[in-house]
Amino acid sequence: MSRYWNERVQRLEPYVPGEQPKDRRYIKLNTNENPYPPSSRAIDAIKQAADKRLRLYPDPNADELRTTCAKHFGLRPDQVFVGNGSDEVLAFSFMSFFSPENPVAFADITYSFYKVYANLCQLQPKIVPLDADFQLPVEAFCEPNGGVVIPNPNAPTGRGIPLSSVRKILEANPDQVVIVDEAYIDFGGESVIPLIHDYPNLLAVRTLSKYSSLAGIRVGFALGHKELIEGLNRLKNSFNSYTIDRLALVGAKAAIEDDAYYRDLSQRIMDTRERTIEQLERIGFHVIPSQANFIFITHREAPAETLFHELRKHGILVRYFNQPRISDYLRVTIGTDEEMEQFVAVLKQII
Ligand SMILES: Cc1ncc(COP(=O)(O)O)c(C=O)c1O
Repeated sequence: MSRYWNERVQRLEPYVPGEQPKDRRYIKLNTNENPYPPSSRAIDAIKQAADKRLRLYPDPNADELRTTCAKHFGLRPDQVFVGNGSDEVLAFSFMSFFSPENPVAFADITYSFYKVYANLCQLQPKIVPLDADFQLPVEAFCEPNGGVVIPNPNAPTGRGIPLSSVRKILEANPDQVVIVDEAYIDFGGESVIPLIHDYPNLLAVRTLSKYSSLAGIRVGFALGHKELIEGLNRLKNSFNSYTIDRLALVGAKAAIEDDAYYRDLSQRIMDTRERTIEQLERIGFHVIPSQANFIFITHREAPAETLFHELRKHGILVRYFNQPRISDYLRVTIGTDEEMEQFVAVLKQII
């Protein structure tokens, strides 16, 4: 605490990101990054833009990138908002669409930034417990509330929900915004983007950090009815007009245009995921079915916290959440085949 902090900063409870260690080389399975390099077209575009034009501000409206993104998803550019990572898009969405008098619903076990944003915006969270097997209780999101946020698939469990459930939630909340965070949708889930034409209350949030292997340039999108996008632009332009730099704008555009490259990578990651699950089950792990580039695992004998520390000693980083209901679990990002083989080999040794 500092006496210089205002009341707002005093009551913040900041998010704690997964570590990006510098002390030694690790097999990094802790922050759901893509183990493969970004599209070479994206890297070339960034290199070509790194010249004297950097003295100029970037396009505040990200017009070219929004047009590319709209075309890719079968939308119009006025249905696309671009932000500095999807975290920023989510933060702006909480600020734009939710109000203190009406609680915003999200799950007890979900992306922990939602609670941080709710606190930042002085919103009341309505925490909905997932069922015993971490399934989403759809009915609970259909009760009256002041907005809904659901990641599909969920983090850190990896469980997806079908479009029919999202439709139900959208229909039960016609006057509230329903945010579907699709950070991990390209690893086997079903996107809500086709529903945007039918539901003006739907906002799909996407990132280039996972599927597109570009966590380092910080680009995320919101896709939805143009009135929602206009609301986000009002908020953004009251905060910072230039949230996306010149290098990120061109890199993101080239990445979206090289989808064939990424589709191939995502198939490799899904294949590695299924192989890893088989191997883990053979050594006594229970694995929650995953539609993401990570898995959520627990062992009937070995405590997760011990495994976390032992793996770290062996140069392997995974994510452990010391929280109610999930303190027996580890969240493990799917790396390359070689990385996952080493992960399983080290686990065998430890166990
Ligand atoms: C569910 C979910 N949403 C959003 C994000 C944020 O991604 P970014 O800000 O890199 O776009 C993450 C990152 O881990 C996530 O797990």
